[in-house]
Amino acid sequence: MPLNIIIGSQWGDEGKGRITDLLAAEADVVARFSGGDNAGHTVTIGEEVFKLHLIPSGIIHEGVSCLIGNGVVLNPAVLLREMDMLAERGVNVSPQRLKISHKAHLITPAHIALDEARELDRGGGAIGTTKRGIGPAYTDKTCRAGLRAGLFTDPEALSKNIHAHIETHNRTLTKIYGVDPLNPREVAAEYADYARRLVPYLADCDLLVDDALQEGRTVLAEGAQGTLLDIDHGTYPFVTSSSPTAGGALTGLGVGPKHVARILGVAKVFTTRVGSGPFPTELQGEQATRLRGSGENPWDEYGTTTGRPRRVGWLDLVILHHARRINSLMELVMTKLDILSGLEDIPVCTAYELDGKQIQYIPADLQTLARCRPVYEILPGWEQDIMNVRQLSRLPLNARRYVDFIADQTGVPVSYVSVGPGRDQSIVIQ
Ligand code: GDP
Ligand code: IMO
Ligand code: MG
Repeated sequence: MPLNIIIGSQWGDEGKGRITDLLAAEADVVARFSGGDNAGHTVTIGEEVFKLHLIPSGIIHEGVSCLIGNGVVLNPAVLLREMDMLAERGVNVSPQRLKISHKAHLITPAHIALDEARELDRGGGAIGTTKRGIGPAYTDKTCRAGLRAGLFTDPEALSKNIHAHIETHNRTLTKIYGVDPLNPREVAAEYADYARRLVPYLADCDLLVDDALQEGRTVLAEGAQGTLLDIDHGTYPFVTSSSPTAGGALTGLGVGPKHVARILGVAKVFTTRVGSGPFPTELQGEQATRLRGSGENPWDEYGTTTGRPRRVGWLDLVILHHARRINSLMELVMTKLDILSGLEDIPVCTAYELDGKQIQYIPADLQTLARCRPVYEILPGWEQDIMNVRQLSRLPLNARRYVDFIADQTGVPVSYVSVGPGRDQSIVIQ
């Protein structure tokens, strides 16, 4: 009756989607538990590339059921577009396979307008959000003014609540931010349409998860975002508004910790970040372009959701120590090892220097973090292209040493290494 949890260990985009797809082969249920369509998860199978924002990456495996848990904030327009895209490509997205929690909160055009207006208002201090309405939707949830997906079952209540919701937010939009109001009637009509299509998908997902676990089936929780974007444990305020950490998987699905069997932290072999905020090992110039790629490969570092170039830097083991502690990581999954091929030397940050001392934790206060300087250990690189390697023993010695170094330093075993975006481009280490 295991619950296996996949977590982003850095600032998101670590390759959680492709690892979820890999592990979904042995799962019965795959569930999203946090975030919304700020996530962009890529699954590559042969020539086919699937970019998923809301639907769990397990959907490509026929025998797997997929859940969108209570911890998710859901833009129904995006969900329906994604369902249509998958159906057109021959993926079964019937209500028998895909379930949405009654308790998931809805994102509305008012949330998106507020996200945009608040970012504009922050000026130089903008967070660099995805402008998908994520923060305002979670704000409404926490202040007990949210609209839950379960409202779709009651057309009258839905209409009444949408009207009140839009009117309330219109006051903020017009009076504080000076932007045009939304039309409550139009939004209510739009949401009534979504309701008609989505009601068959609604379910008590916490009951489904419990049934699956009691019956001995394997549930895979697919994290979105990453540990350093966590509302509590990330680089606040440059974070998202949810808990993408292992604790969030439990509250975001409605299950306790006793079922947890594996907690896997996915990490890139270098570091990336989209949006603003601290980034101790960030690189600029040629070195940055080398890690980011020029944009010609589908895996180059440009946002799946927004297309923005990602900020890039060397691997930061202080971040992985943090992710290990916050999530109780049991295993690490290292992605994109192929990108380092051809580098002569590979610097890895093993500690920060703060006021003449070395530390291996992330200071909670951003001003202190800004004073931290990365301490690097330089590891030797390797020449060979490794995208066709499928066994650890076939990796160049220095590539193997790089992986061993990460496991030794963090004290967490590395159980998978990926060497390309494709489903088969991974090395299983047992
Ligand atoms: P997620 O948000 O954590 O699911 O990650 P994204 O899908 O946003 O970003 C990861 C990107 O790296 C995608 O384009 C993947 O196809 C690609 N990718 C994942 N693993 C590897 C790998 O081992 N090598 C290469 N070259 N690309 C990879
Ligand atoms: P996946 O699941 C990378 C970042 C945004 C911004 C901050 C807040 O693909 O790894 P938000 O729209 O959530 O209010 O933005 O969080 N962010 C992500 N960065 N990958 C993601 O998801 C992200 N989801 C949010 O860039 O800095
Ligand atoms: Mg992503």
